[in-house]
Amino acid sequence: MTGSEVRIGIVGAGTWGETHARIYQAHPASKVVAVCDSNAGRASGLASRLGIDSWYDDYEEMFTKEGLDSVAIVTPDFAHAEIAIAAARHGLHMLIEKPLATTRDDVFRMIDAITAGEVRAMVDLHNRFSPPFNVARQSVADGELGELQTGYMRLNDAKWVATDLLPWAAQSSILWFLGSHSVDTLRWFFDDEVTRVYSVSRSGLLKGLGVDTVDSYLTTLEFAGGGIAHMENGWINPNAMPNINDIKFTVVGDKGMISIDASSHNLIQKYTEEKVTVPDVLVRDHVFGYPAGFAYQSIRSFVDSLVSGEDFRVSLPDSAKVSLIVLAIMESAKKRQPVEVDYGVITTG
Ligand SMILES: NC(=O)c1ccc[n+]([C@@H]2O[C@H](COP(=O)([O-])OP(=O)(O)OC[C@H]3O[C@@H](n4cnc5c(N)ncnc54)[C@H](O)[C@@H]3O)[C@@H](O)[C@H]2O)c1
Repeated sequence: MTGSEVRIGIVGAGTWGETHARIYQAHPASKVVAVCDSNAGRASGLASRLGIDSWYDDYEEMFTKEGLDSVAIVTPDFAHAEIAIAAARHGLHMLIEKPLATTRDDVFRMIDAITAGEVRAMVDLHNRFSPPFNVARQSVADGELGELQTGYMRLNDAKWVATDLLPWAAQSSILWFLGSHSVDTLRWFFDDEVTRVYSVSRSGLLKGLGVDTVDSYLTTLEFAGGGIAHMENGWINPNAMPNINDIKFTVVGDKGMISIDASSHNLIQKYTEEKVTVPDVLVRDHVFGYPAGFAYQSIRSFVDSLVSGEDFRVSLPDSAKVSLIVLAIMESAKKRQPVEVDYGVITTG
């Protein structure tokens, strides 16, 4: 697929599906030709807002009729697998929102379908595109920190994401929604495989607010080469936080250390009569109307790689391993015991 306009269909016309659609519409090498949502009103609403000709409430019908090259799968965390398998059957390349899948069976069925369909698939684990993380990762790759010994990553959300934003939060978890980014980032930094995980979780606060999902996980990851990392993922940070995410990160090597505070950077502070905020200038900001944040760059890179033929920045085995590690973390938290990660037949990535 080189040189031509990429014809994209969107499945999932919710908050993030609209973001995908706007990015592809603005990209000179792609065009959204149809959108689909099982909620017909959402599909038609997005199509009319963005001037897209066709909308569907059945993705099979869209895949059959629209002559697409690729599809963006932007449905809730647990609803990616069947759509991806159908897309692969129709020969469509795909950008799947994170996580790849939330069950072991789905992970392997998706890999089989994508392989059999000879299509390309990327999962939007976008933290690799975050400027501070990318710069830090380059230092690690250049050997400036020596061999990584330990790592720590906190990636928490304000409570309202679980209580008000995502109608399906109880069918997902902070580990799928944000922990998948943490696992991907730590694997990428250590450039090594997670062999064993140990996690302890705490529940109750969100349940009391009517959302039946775990509040927080504190997890230890052990890497094959001896590195160890801690991950903190919670969905219960106070709603008054100046930023939706709370992101702290440190890696310590035998020659140096890097720390990142990506949420309370204080580069810009806004004070009004009501509150103080730290506006986002990193993730989803716009400069002269141009979507400049790294969450947008990650989506754009899907089109860039389809056109250039270059590898995606996140491989399918990478994202499959992230899902299998998250499943091991959940099992560990349930059993209150360390769990060895079982990668099955996945060997590379
Ligand atoms: N990368 C990021 O920064 C980022 C940000 C937000 C969300 N996400 C991810 O994007 C995905 C969607 O999140 P969202 O916030 O847009 O959710 P949302 O609830 O706003 O939208 C999901 C849409 O999918 C539709 N849908 C569900 N099942 C469907 C099916 N089988 N066929 C067609 N449509 C179906 C729903 O009707 C809904 O309109 C999730 O996986 C989430 O983790 C990623």
